[in-house]
Amino acid sequence: MTLDLTQNDISAVVAADRNHVWHHLSQHKPYETMDPRVFVEGKGMRLWDATGKEYLDGVSGGVWTVNVGYGRESIANAVRDQLIKLNYYAGAAGTVPGAVFAQQLIDKMPGLSRVYYSNSGSEANEKVYKMVRQIAARQHGGRKWKILYRDRDYHGTTIGTLATSGQDQRAMQYGPYPDGFVRVPHCLEYRAQWDVANYGERAADAIEEVILREGPDTIGALVLEPVTAGGGVITPPDGYWPRVQEICRKYDILLHIDEVVCGLGRTGTWFGYQNYGIQPDFVTMAKGVASGYAAISCTVTTERVFEMFKDDAADPMGYFRDISTFGGCTAGPVAAIENMRIIEDEGLLENTLAMGNRLMDNLTTLMDRHAVVGDVRGRGLFCGAELVADRKTKEPADEKKVQAVVADCLSQGVIIGATNRSLPGLNNTLCLSPALIARPDDIDRITTAIDGALTRVFG
Ligand SMILES: Cc1ncc(COP(=O)(O)O)c(C=O)c1O
Repeated sequence: MTLDLTQNDISAVVAADRNHVWHHLSQHKPYETMDPRVFVEGKGMRLWDATGKEYLDGVSGGVWTVNVGYGRESIANAVRDQLIKLNYYAGAAGTVPGAVFAQQLIDKMPGLSRVYYSNSGSEANEKVYKMVRQIAARQHGGRKWKILYRDRDYHGTTIGTLATSGQDQRAMQYGPYPDGFVRVPHCLEYRAQWDVANYGERAADAIEEVILREGPDTIGALVLEPVTAGGGVITPPDGYWPRVQEICRKYDILLHIDEVVCGLGRTGTWFGYQNYGIQPDFVTMAKGVASGYAAISCTVTTERVFEMFKDDAADPMGYFRDISTFGGCTAGPVAAIENMRIIEDEGLLENTLAMGNRLMDNLTTLMDRHAVVGDVRGRGLFCGAELVADRKTKEPADEKKVQAVVADCLSQGVIIGATNRSLPGLNNTLCLSPALIARPDDIDRITTAIDGALTRVFG
């Protein structure tokens, strides 16, 4: 069978999928009586499935990934040319795309200077956790080995990163987890934990309380998403980040920003943290780095951290003894170079800000029209609408109805997302992350579909 498929071939493909593919994040029981959705083609923001149905993709490949849209021939050509020239060499040596992309990335990240390549967001985060543990062992006599993470944040699917899952439904049944990962409270003001005027500072102070409880000399790092993604699109309240930075400096705690979703333009700046004037010690990124055209993730850090791993060249255990085999694939960085060029040349950061404002305006109008929309939050093309059964009590909307809204949009040919098996009782936020190339009519079509779906599902 070639990949140029006839209708008969497509039926065979769907059967093969149904019989043999184990889908991510999916209960397969329904596929005993119906076909799974199989996508065949994508162009710009549009997708076509095996039945020929067209969709407008409001979530960039399902999980906020395809930032520059589908069908980019220039990325495909750059990857093809590079694969013929040199497809791979292990990351113990350099390659041309690896070096060039590192330089281009660092140019966008003042204060940071070193890039460590791997393949997934989880892996990029694991690298930081290992670095922090090794710094603890070498610089702090074994102290400062704990890592703080935040309620409602997510950092990956491995056992190590699930140990830092602030989303209980992701972590349940996969334990026990390794020691030394400690949770701090979330900062979502809509679900306020403190009745104060300066909510942002108060939420950051809650981190300090955990540090003092655990003992500052036991804490090596704090990992946070700049804007929480799968935990409900949580934009930080004013005053939060400056206080977080201050606390980290006060207790000599390394600040690790997980940009796996926000990185490469999603919030209208190159990186989410750059909206908040903070200076991280580690930044991790994956999804949008090459928009899904190749697998690549990066762990970026400072010269200060890097220097700690070469302070005793005679010590055989003194350097970062880690390898990611496919971190040496050249397809990732070469796709990332072209991805970054597209974002720059097509003015996609500016477009993200403009279209993000439009999306937020439209969502605010939906809030006026539908009592079930309790809160709308977002930054750039990264927005969420939290659905509630009662605006006053903020009782979350029934999860099945939230999923019915997603399904209704899908039947209209518009793909949106919702928090999914993340937070017990709180999987009630619709998630939107259209490609950074979105035009006004794309944004309007997405919110019009949601409008219709809310009317049909909630009346
Ligand atoms: C904020 C964040 N960090 C890390 C990850 C894990 O990335 P990956 O699935 O590439 O391992 C995700 C995935 O959704 C994420 O949203």
